[in-house]
Amino acid sequence: MPGTVYLNGDYLPLEDAKVSVMDRGFLFGDGVYEVIPVYDGKLVGLKKHLQRLQNSLDRVTLDNPLSAEQWLSLFSSLLDKNTEQAGQPESAIYLQITRGVYPKRDLVIDPQYPPTVFAMVLPVTPPDLDRISAGITAITVDDFRWNACDIKSTSLIGNVMLKQQARAAGVDDAILIRDGLVTEGTASNVFLVKDEVLVTPPTSRCLLPGITRDLVIEIAKNNTILVEEREIKQGELDQADEIWMTSSTREIAPVIQLDGKAVSQGRAGDMWKHITGLYQQYKQSIRA
Ligand SMILES: Cc1ncc(COP(=O)(O)O)c(C=O)c1O
Repeated sequence: MPGTVYLNGDYLPLEDAKVSVMDRGFLFGDGVYEVIPVYDGKLVGLKKHLQRLQNSLDRVTLDNPLSAEQWLSLFSSLLDKNTEQAGQPESAIYLQITRGVYPKRDLVIDPQYPPTVFAMVLPVTPPDLDRISAGITAITVDDFRWNACDIKSTSLIGNVMLKQQARAAGVDDAILIRDGLVTEGTASNVFLVKDEVLVTPPTSRCLLPGITRDLVIEIAKNNTILVEEREIKQGELDQADEIWMTSSTREIAPVIQLDGKAVSQGRAGDMWKHITGLYQQYKQSIRA
């Protein structure tokens, strides 16, 4: 567990970090968050994560409490104070900003109250390649969430419910379908491979623009693999040669079974092997 955490300007032991029950993050889920991977103590994709944080803040009309330099200095201090975690091959910085503590429970925004700013170092078990390549199982479920899924909001009750539907069905995860189209996973983006072309839904208010999604697209394009960012009809999942779910902590997970049927003969496909090799090279280059 994290040792020293950051809360509103102070560094303190996790057990001493306390937030009021009147905090709007607690009462309304009125906040946004980010998770930034750290490899061998190095922050990965910092600029992109800070940009996505800014987008989330803009969308919920919350001022960014810190400049990019101040965020960087906060993360460096936090990593310095958590050498045990930060010294591991992989960890992550979790940060959360809520609209702060108001005297009354009232939906109306009053900018006179300062936000609550919290950050901690999270332990991450490095995804083991043998384990990832074993693949995951999934079902398709109706994506009943709101039309603002591009915001990395702490209001995750929809995602929690959808993940639980998957778990109740005895599978690892769910692929979400809105109006017959694939959106994303409960905490990941979705790719399919058809005839050696990589396809993923375009960014929109129906999904979170994943940093891993961007990276996979970039790696593929740099290696002359065709990529299409376009709508994916639910029926295309049945015809797909491969299906993957991507996120910073899970990397590129091959789906080997969907709705009880084998995908790519029930094992990780050749395109997954190819892209995962390139992704691991990218990780090595960050460490070096
Ligand atoms: C709903 C959702 N979509 C996609 C992602 C993938 O984002 P990233 O690749 O930046 O981890 C996440 C990550 O947590 C997520 O929660």
